[in-house]
Amino acid sequence: GDYFTSAMGLTESGVPRVPTRYILPPSQRPMLGPSIGSATIDLPVIDLSLLHDPLLRPRVIHEIETACKGFGFFQITNHGIPSSVVNDALDAATRFFDLPAEEKMLLVSDNFHEPVRYGTSINHSTDRVHYWRDFIKHYSHPLSKWIDLWPSNPTCYKEKVGRYAEATHVLHKQLIEAISESLGLEKNYLQEEIEEGSQVMAMNCYPACPEPEIALGMPPHSDFSSLTILLQSSQGLQIMDCDNNWVCVPYIEGALIVQLGDQVEVMSNGIYKSVVHRVTVNKDLKRLSFASLHSLPMHMKISPATKLVDENKPAAYGEFSFNDFLDYISRNDITQQRFIDTVK
Ligand code: SIN
Ligand code: FE2
Repeated sequence: GDYFTSAMGLTESGVPRVPTRYILPPSQRPMLGPSIGSATIDLPVIDLSLLHDPLLRPRVIHEIETACKGFGFFQITNHGIPSSVVNDALDAATRFFDLPAEEKMLLVSDNFHEPVRYGTSINHSTDRVHYWRDFIKHYSHPLSKWIDLWPSNPTCYKEKVGRYAEATHVLHKQLIEAISESLGLEKNYLQEEIEEGSQVMAMNCYPACPEPEIALGMPPHSDFSSLTILLQSSQGLQIMDCDNNWVCVPYIEGALIVQLGDQVEVMSNGIYKSVVHRVTVNKDLKRLSFASLHSLPMHMKISPATKLVDENKPAAYGEFSFNDFLDYISRNDITQQRFIDTVK
C-alpha cells in the first residue's frame, strides 16, 4: 500500500497485535517454541589495541583470518572509540526516533539513491511483508560533504552522530588493512579507493513488538558493503550457522561487531564470505543499532584481487559497482535473491 505507518507509531499507539502486513509466512517466523531467544554463539572477541603492537600484530592478523574464514563475524574490544562518543550518538538517535511523526516524515524517501532518508521496514511501498524497524540512513563520508543534510532535530544530532561516524571511519581503515594483510595482500591494498569510498550509516530503531514470534526487524540478508561495523544497544541480531540454524550474536557492553560484506567476498575471490543475518524483535524492549557500511566508491567496478586469481582459482565473480547494486535493489526483492549471487 502507499500508507506510511512507522513501527514506532504502532508501538506508541499500543496495538495489541501486529497488523497483518507484518505477519511472516510460518516458515520464515523467527521462533517455533514459546521461548524467545535461541542459542547464543561464541563469536571470536578480538582485542584490537594489540594490532598497534608490532610484536603482537601478526597474532591478531591470524585471529582475524580465522574469524573471517569462520563466521565472517567477530566482535572487537579496545577499538579506540571512547564510550562517551558511543553513548552520545545513542542519545542523539534515541531523541531523533522519539520525535513526532510529522517531523521525521520530512525526511521520508524510498529512493535508494537519496543521501539522507528516513523510512520504515525495507521499502515500505513495495515490501510484501513489512519489517518492524524504523531507520534513518545517511551518507557519512566525507562528513563535511553530507552533514548539512542530516537531521537538524535534535540539535545535538549532527555533532554527536558526526563524531561517532568519523571515529568509525578511522576504525574501518585499520580493519580493512588488517583484513587485506590476512589475505596475503599488501596492507595498503586499494588504499586510495578506500579513502575515497563511501560510508553509509543506517541508524535502526526496533520498537517493542507485541508479537515478536511472528515478525522480524530485518529479513535475512547479507550486507553489500566491504565491511560493516555494528553497534547494538541489546541482543537481537542473529546469524546462520553452518547447520543452517539461526544463532544469536551476544551483546557485549562496549564491544562493536564487525561483519564482512559482499565486496570483501568478491575482493577475496570467495576466500572470505559475506554473512547472512537477520534481526529479531522483542516484546518489551526497544533496540537501537547503528550499522556503518563502508564501501568502495559508488562508481568503481569491483572485482577479485589479481593476486588471488590464477589458473586453479579463476575469478568467481563478475564486475559490478555499488551503483549497480542500488539499481538492483530498487527493482528487486532482496529477500528472494542476494545481489552477489546474480554476478557469480
Ligand atoms: C542490519 O543488518 O543492517 C541491522 C543489524 C542490526 O540491527 O543488528
Ligand atoms: Fe545487515
